[in-house]
Amino acid sequence: MGAVEDQTTALRRAMAEVKRQGAPAPAAAPRGRQRVIAIGSGKGGVGKTNLSANLALALHLAGEKTCILDGDLGLSNVNIVLGELPKWNLFHVLKGEKKLEEIVFRTQWGPDLVAGASGFQELANLDDATRARFVESLGILRAYDNLVIDTGAGIGANVTAFLQAARQVLIVTTPEPTAVTDAYGLIKSLAAAGRTENINLVINRIPSVAEGRKVAERIRAIARQFLRLEVELLGMVHEDEAVVKAVYQRKPFLAMDPKCRASAGVRAIAERLRGKSAEDAGDEGALGAFLRRLFG
Ligand SMILES: Nc1ncnc2c1ncn2[C@@H]1O[C@H](COP(=O)(O)OP(=O)(O)O)[C@@H](O)[C@H]1O
Ligand SMILES: [Mg+2]
Repeated sequence: MGAVEDQTTALRRAMAEVKRQGAPAPAAAPRGRQRVIAIGSGKGGVGKTNLSANLALALHLAGEKTCILDGDLGLSNVNIVLGELPKWNLFHVLKGEKKLEEIVFRTQWGPDLVAGASGFQELANLDDATRARFVESLGILRAYDNLVIDTGAGIGANVTAFLQAARQVLIVTTPEPTAVTDAYGLIKSLAAAGRTENINLVINRIPSVAEGRKVAERIRAIARQFLRLEVELLGMVHEDEAVVKAVYQRKPFLAMDPKCRASAGVRAIAERLRGKSAEDAGDEGALGAFLRRLFG
C-alpha cells in the first residue's frame, strides 16, 4: 500500500509542479499525428515486451518517429529483446544525474528507447528543483509520432497509471484460459477506474485465426454484458517459432524475419493503429494529453 500512496503523492506533486511552471511549449509535430500506446496484460509472459518492441519497429518502418518507453518497472527487458544495453535509465533522471534527452537511447533498429527504472516511485522523494526539471524534460517526448509503452503485468498502481494515461491501451492475452481471465480482470479494473474507450485487444500466440477470433469474441461479449464496454479486437499474432528464435538472437522478429507470420500480424496491428490517429488526437496532441493525464 505504501508504494501505491507514494505513487499517488508523486503524481499529485508533479501535477502541481506542471501547473506552477506552466505546461511545456507545444511540439512542432503536426496536430493529430501523435499516438500514445500503452501495452498491458493481466497475466505475465503473454508477449507484451515482444509486441512493444516489434510494434515500435513496424511504426518506425512505416516512416514514423517512434519511442519505446520501458515502463515495466519490475522486469524491464525491452533492452534484452532489442539486444541493446542503454547505460542510463529513468532512475538517473530522477536522481538528477542526467537529463531525459541524455538518456534517450538510439537503438540500432530505428526506434528510440527510454529505459525504465524501478525507482520510479522515488518521484515522491525528489527535491523540488529535480522534480521540476524532470517534469519539464518530459516535453521532449512530444517530438515523436508514437510513444509505445511496455508495462508490467497486472493491475498494480504503476501499471494502471500508465495504462490510464495513454490514449490507446492494448491488452495482450494468449488463448490460455488463465491469461484470458486475467485480461478480463485488467479490463474490469480499467473500467472501474473510469476508462470507457480505446481498449484494444491483441490475441497473441494464436494457433489459428478462427481460434483467435473465438477468444476475442468471448472477452468482447463479457465486457459488453458486465461492463457495458466495447472492446476492439485490434489484431492477432500467430504462435511462431521465429519469435522464440529472435528472442534468443536478441533481435526484434520483425528485423530477423520480416516475412514470418508474427511479423505480418504486428504489421497489421501497426496499420490499424495508424488508421486511428487522426480521429483520436486532440488539440494538444496525444502525447500532450498523455503527459497531462499522467501528471494531472
Ligand atoms: N507469437 C509468439 N509465438 C511464439 N512464442 C511467443 C510469441 N509471443 C511471445 N512468445 C514467447 O513468450 C515469451 C515471453 O514474451 P514477452 O514478450 O517477454 O512477454 P511479457 O512481456 O508479456 O512478459 C517470449 O520470450 C517468447 O518465448
Ligand atoms: Mg515484459
